[in-house]
Amino acid sequence: MAFFTRHIKRSFSSSAVKNVVIKNVTIIGGGQMGAGIAQVAASTGHSVTLVDMTDDVLKKAMKGIQASLRRVVKKTFSEDPESGDEFIQKVMQKVSTSTDPGAAAASSDLVLEAIVENMKIKQDLFGFLDKMAPEHTVFASNTSSLPIGEIVSTTSRQDRCGGLHFFNPVPMMKLVEVVATSSTSPETAESLLNFTKALGKTPVCCKDTPGFIVNRLLVPYMMEALRLHERGHGSIEDIDTAMKLGAGYPMGPFELSDYVGLDTMKFIIDGWSEKEPDNPIFAPSELLNKLVAQGKLGKKTAEGFYKYKK
Ligand code: NAI
Repeated sequence: MAFFTRHIKRSFSSSAVKNVVIKNVTIIGGGQMGAGIAQVAASTGHSVTLVDMTDDVLKKAMKGIQASLRRVVKKTFSEDPESGDEFIQKVMQKVSTSTDPGAAAASSDLVLEAIVENMKIKQDLFGFLDKMAPEHTVFASNTSSLPIGEIVSTTSRQDRCGGLHFFNPVPMMKLVEVVATSSTSPETAESLLNFTKALGKTPVCCKDTPGFIVNRLLVPYMMEALRLHERGHGSIEDIDTAMKLGAGYPMGPFELSDYVGLDTMKFIIDGWSEKEPDNPIFAPSELLNKLVAQGKLGKKTAEGFYKYKK
């Protein structure tokens, strides 16, 4: 990791703001990702404020965190259920909820955004937070597909902004992509790297380019599997079997697409192809577009390339 830090230090200009040790975290968006990140941050001793638009969503998020912690505890405290209950209680006490992002940001070292994947809504949020958060507060986005530099362009602290791209399900997945824009200061990048390590995750450093590392390789691979099928060169089942048994992948590309969500895949590929219409790697797929139009989005709707039990 020293290599990455040195690399970042060389790549970006220095900043007046010192390396921030992140203890108090505000997470905006209490959906699938935000709740998962809140759980991991609280489990590793951070004070977390989880923000969403309504108390109902937040109640649901807290219930989800508690249920997920119960699953963790069942494994890690199987011999000592009482200590497991204590652990859950301690973690839950570390998470408070709010529907007021400005107030939450006012006492945070890090504000991490995990809201809907929409550029304008994210930009408005960060523009607002910029006025509310103290000078030292670092801003990060968990976006999968939007340029971080553009998302935080509405702030006056671009040296203190970056990306923290977590993977779903957050408590299980070890990787976090730490994204530095061309304005991110070395100190900010280092704070974000240290934070991900404090969460018990393994960070990798990325540039602010479409898909960072994982999705830049994974999405074109899944799209090429689709095109291969569309050309009539293999059935969905055979392509999945081939990649599982021939390449040792735990899931085939169609199973993985159903797991990720076909709407998410379409959103990502459409965004990239809009930016680079002549890049054949980003070309859209008729089959994908048809399934999304039919509401067959994968596991979450019980049908995508495969059918699932409801
Ligand atoms: P989600 O739809 O489960 O949750 C989004 C939450 O944000 C909702 O609870 C919604 O009420 C809330 N929200 C929307 N606008 C808001 C606002 N202005 N203020 C406060 N809360 C607001 O979405 P999910 O899947 O958790 O994704 C969130 C972000 O994480 C997106 O940027 C997505 O690209 C990224 N991401 C998603 C992954 C996934 O596998 N689902 C993986 C990695 C990143």
